[in-house]
Amino acid sequence: MFIRVEHIGIAVKTLENANPLFAKLFGKEHYKIESVASEGVSTLFFQLGETKIELLEATNPDSPIAKFIEKKGEGIHHIAYEVDDILAEMERLKAEGFALLNETPKNGADNKLICFLHPKTTNGVLVEICQSIKS
Ligand code: CO
Repeated sequence: MFIRVEHIGIAVKTLENANPLFAKLFGKEHYKIESVASEGVSTLFFQLGETKIELLEATNPDSPIAKFIEKKGEGIHHIAYEVDDILAEMERLKAEGFALLNETPKNGADNKLICFLHPKTTNGVLVEICQSIKS
């Protein structure tokens, strides 16, 4: 089951420049910076009530974020929905004809299991589903 929008991912050229801009916009500071080496990204999070904003910076030229910015420029990169059971949702979405970008859940930033859906099957929007890893 889809529960809520967990976060919105925004591709930025550098966290160094984007961080003060978004901090000024929101009137608050970020609460976390975290690198996800497997994805070639550095992430920075703002908490806004129930939702987060995730800034994404590429850490190498082959990073999906580097390619996204090359093609489309900076801007909204993905919308992430919290789900209650990521394996069940992956099965359900696959059966519904959505293209999953990974066949098994991956470890994402912020202590999450994640899976991306290809934007060609989701009306051009890169969709992430995520489930918190119970600690
Ligand atoms: Co995300």
